[in-house]
Amino acid sequence: MENLQPFLSQLAVQAGKLALSLQAQIQEGDVSCKATVRDIVTVADQATERHIREAVEARFPEHRFYGEETGKSQGKDSPYCWIVDPIDGTVSYFEGQLYWCTSIALWKEGKPLAGAVYAPALDELYYGEVGKGAFCNGRPIAIRSHGDLEHSVVSTGFSCLRAGWTKGNNVPFFANIGLHCRCVRRFGSAAMDICYVACGKSDGFWELNLQPYDYAAAQVILQEAGGKVTDLRGGTDYPRQGILATNGVIHQEMLRYFPNYTRREE
Ligand code: IPD
Ligand code: CA
Ligand code: CA
Repeated sequence: MENLQPFLSQLAVQAGKLALSLQAQIQEGDVSCKATVRDIVTVADQATERHIREAVEARFPEHRFYGEETGKSQGKDSPYCWIVDPIDGTVSYFEGQLYWCTSIALWKEGKPLAGAVYAPALDELYYGEVGKGAFCNGRPIAIRSHGDLEHSVVSTGFSCLRAGWTKGNNVPFFANIGLHCRCVRRFGSAAMDICYVACGKSDGFWELNLQPYDYAAAQVILQEAGGKVTDLRGGTDYPRQGILATNGVIHQEMLRYFPNYTRREE
């Protein structure tokens, strides 16, 4: 395969800047609800994904594509699949906050190959590729360790509440882990949460009920930065059984907060 980095990085930056340029124009009428009133999509999410999809399909017409807003391509059997979240952190985007990003991943045979995550409001471009390392704005990044959970900063999200989970949601885990770490952050973008672990600005992240496009790019960035990703039982059944992405050092300790975790809501 050709050198992926220029195409992926440039496309993530271009798409993220497109979203940023649309941000000021977004009005209440440009927002619609998906499954629940908490689950919103704006015209910018759709326009940004169209831009990414057109660029990918023009360059790699035989590859499959799976985007949050436009869904899965049909009738292609390529081992390659592009997994895209045009704006991860739409609520933050809509509210004019900083933590949202464009996330583009290329997977091969169900496994991550490369990923780019660009946060336009921070001008941070994260890139990772299997065997080639992880970078932020071109500089190598690596996880950091504070030893144990008590000295660590972790983050989480509440996709389960957005989906209306009344049983088995993240609130009890949040309360319990919050008592045993330095602090818990809620940045509002799963891709950014995981990239922050990758570059040592945080030590761990967990969430229930994510979708592949939320973490597809950030996962390879974190793994290349020396971090670890499992489900909440320590296995590989993510995102179905939740996701735990850490610096590796606090992974086993964090897993103890999810004893016999089993997803309860569909
Ligand atoms: C959401 C963000 C959020 C997480 C949700 C995701 P979206 O993605 O990553 O942090 O808590 O689970 O769905 O909808 O803004 O692309
Ligand atoms: Ca998302
Ligand atoms: Ca999104």
